Formats: sequence, C-alpha cells, structure tokens
Amino acid sequence: MSESNDKMNYEDVMKLALERGFYFPSCEVYSDAQAGFWEYGPSGVSLKNKFLELWRRELIRRDGMLEIDGSQIMSKSVFEASGHLGNFADPIIRCTKCRSTFRADRLIAEISKIDIPESADLAEFDNAISQNNIKCPKCKSDFEKTRKFNMMFRVGIGPEEEEAYLRPETCQSIFVDFPRLFKTMRGKLPLGIAQVGKSFRNEISPRQSLLRLREFYQAEIEVFCNPSRLDVVEKFAEIQDTVIRVQTDSAPVAMTCKEAVESKVIPNKFVAYYLGILTEFYEKTGIDISKSRFRKLGEKEKAFYAQVAFDFEVETTIGWLELVACNYRSDYDLSSHANKSKEKFEVMDDEQKVLPHVFEISMGIDRSLYTILEHSIREDKENERIVLSVKPYLAPVHVGVLSLVKKDGLKEKTDEIFIGIKRKFDAFLDHSGAIGRRYRRLDEIGAPFAITVDHQTLEDDTVTIRSRDSMSQDRIKTSDLDSLLSKETSFP
Ligand code: GLY
Repeated sequence: MSESNDKMNYEDVMKLALERGFYFPSCEVYSDAQAGFWEYGPSGVSLKNKFLELWRRELIRRDGMLEIDGSQIMSKSVFEASGHLGNFADPIIRCTKCRSTFRADRLIAEISKIDIPESADLAEFDNAISQNNIKCPKCKSDFEKTRKFNMMFRVGIGPEEEEAYLRPETCQSIFVDFPRLFKTMRGKLPLGIAQVGKSFRNEISPRQSLLRLREFYQAEIEVFCNPSRLDVVEKFAEIQDTVIRVQTDSAPVAMTCKEAVESKVIPNKFVAYYLGILTEFYEKTGIDISKSRFRKLGEKEKAFYAQVAFDFEVETTIGWLELVACNYRSDYDLSSHANKSKEKFEVMDDEQKVLPHVFEISMGIDRSLYTILEHSIREDKENERIVLSVKPYLAPVHVGVLSLVKKDGLKEKTDEIFIGIKRKFDAFLDHSGAIGRRYRRLDEIGAPFAITVDHQTLEDDTVTIRSRDSMSQDRIKTSDLDSLLSKETSFP
C-alpha cells in the first residue's frame, strides 16, 4: 500500500462513526447512560440494511432457508432447557475493598498474559491470581474468590413479575418453533432456519463500541440435518474449490473445501459446505479474506452446547475479532426442549425417523459492520481526504446530487434530478458549501458516485458524474443516470 493510501485504525473508524452518523453511544446526553449500549445513525442503518440484504442473498436464498422473527423476551422454561440458566455465566472477581468487579479471565490475560478459557474451573483463576500476585487495578487490594455471574437479563412479566429473560441468543426461538415450522412449511432435511434480531448479555466489562455490547444484533442460521447424512451433500460441488483458511494449530492454512474434508481438517462435507458459502459471503462484503481464519476451538473454549466449533475470525488493527461462531450443536437443543416440553421434535427424513442435529452459523452483525468499516477506510494523503471504499452495493449513500451553485436555475434542476432517482437509490441532496468539501463528505460516507449539475446541464441535459475511488469525472446524459447507477450499485 502506498504512503498516500494508508489504511487506518480503530480510532479513525470511531471518529468517522461519530462524525458521519454511523454509530454513537446510547442516551449520551445523560450522565447515567450505561456502557455497552450504542445507537446506529442513518449511515449505520443504511449499511446494516444492505449488509443484511447481501446475507439474505448469499446465504438464506442461496440455500433455500426459512427466516423467522421471534420474541426477544422468552419464558424461564426455554432457558432452563437450553442450559443458559445453569451455564451461561462468566467468571468474575470482586475487589474486597472498592468492590470493583472484573472478568477474571480478561484481567489475568491483561496483567499476566496468561490465557485461561472462560469455562475453566474457578480454582484455576484463583491460583493464577495468587501465583501472579494480581491485585485490583483501581485500589491495589486483594480480590474475593472467583465466582460465576449469569449474563442473562431477567425481566418480570405483568404485576406478578413472573420470571422471564431477554434472549441471550436469537436461536432459541428457532429451536422451540422447529416442530411447527417443519410441519407448516413442509420442511425437508437438511433445513436452514434463520433469524436476525437483537440479543442481550449482561457483560461485565462492555467495551470498544460495537465490539462488546450488552444489546447487540445477531444474524443466526440453524441448519437441521440428519446426522447419518453429513457427507451426502449434493451442493458440495458448488463450493468444493472455494478456498477457506483454517487454523487447527498455530497458524491459518489456506485450502479448498474439498481438501479440508479429505484431510479431515473439517469433519464432513456438510460443515465444509456452510464454511464455504460463508467465506464467499464475506468476500462480497469487501472484508479482506486473506486476513480471515476459521479457528477450531479447544475443549475448554467451546460454548457448553457445542460439540465441534470453528470461530470465523478476521484480523483488524485491534487484533483478531470473532465475527461468526460456527457450532455443531448436535441434538443438544432439540432433545433438551423435547424433554422439558414433552413435545415431539423428531421428523421424518425419507423413511427414517430422526431427531435432527444442528449446525449453527451465528453471526455478530455489529462486529461485522465494524470490520467492513475498518477494512474499507483509508487516508488518501495526496488528495487530503478520507475515503470509505466500501462496495457500492453496501454504500450508505449510493450517490450525492449536488448543484455547482444555487443560482441561475441550477438548484431547481438539481432538485428535479434528485426527485427522479431518490426512490430507487440512496441519494443525498446537497446544495451548500464548497464543492470540494461536499465531495469529501460523500467520500467519507462511502458514496461511490456524485452527480454535479452545472450550467451546461441546462443546455444539453448532461451532468458530471464523479467516481469516489478514482476521483475521475465523466459527463453523461441525465437520461442515462438510472441505468448507470443501477448497473454500478446492484448486488453481485
Ligand atoms: N447462538 C450462538 C451464540 O450466540 O453465540
């Protein structure tokens, strides 16, 4: 990368996010605003909507999945069955003097550079704390013994405040709804069921804006399958040559999906198929796939419901970020809900009655959006501008519509062009300020094009169209704008 095209870091993304309407802290005008809650502004919402449209195209529709939209508050029984009431807890330590509380695994890692998995025995944390003489970073006092803290938000329903919980993962409604969906939608295994929505986790130390939130967006896919048919995957041919980067040891290794299955790095064609289409999806988001890996999790790192787990992680300036958890959950969830509810969760697969197994692709939307921003933002020093080179189909604004000056009828002509395209494209009308500064603002929100109306427009009905990345300008007829923008901003 040339010096005049520098990539930028977390602080640069944060500045852009705050100044250009991507995201900002929730309740920020009040001093009792809580950490871990963020809002998306107009640029962020537009980017998120387009990201999800790409997700639907590349995963949901490609694979013929079903999408549902379930409740965010779910009953206690759901989480008794799912295991979250018993197991969804972080190890925490509290200072004996100032009562400050920390995640034990994180504080130990920060201070002593020792990685202890969050699911390790509590004694392991206590031993590390005493052996390394770790004290409270705030007041230097000793800690109480490590204990578990359940991360679900409890809510009271109705005047009797009956116990229920904000969901800590969207997928529980997919499991609970599975028998009805399979029947009413005339399901056939393998069947993917997906959901986009908010999940809630009472994180001890939320931080880094979108990266560790207490209220966050997930796009989850649960694929129900017959466990005896994990290598009978007709669609495997579609992705067998797709290159994925898998890390089972110390460094990621690039290999085709076919090689991954043949070498048993990935356990079967079924899992490899979904890792393949997931990689193809992320490639289309503009994230640099050469900086990605599917990292196989060790026994102590996996979530309590996972039999095999690969985290899809991407390298950023603040380290590797987990964007997607890919968990083979076996029949853990369906058998737990069947036992507790006494409903039937088995289905027929041809002539065979099976309790399906589940492979999950659990995507963190907020982290994915952050990573797209970080991998797209660059400083063009030569031209003194910040450019968000996002894919045109993901751009929060497709096109800026600018009048060179407001007088001589140019404003009215610009308004007319804007009205003609604004229903079909995300267009931004801007009449005021120096034209150079208006272009710079559009570059920062990633608008791939800017149309400028000048005096010549009034004579021959042409406008200039400026490209964000090259800054080149061409003259085109206003009657050609629709087809050019359609072609250049459409999804691949
Ligand atoms: N459903 C998996 C997760 O939320 O991480």
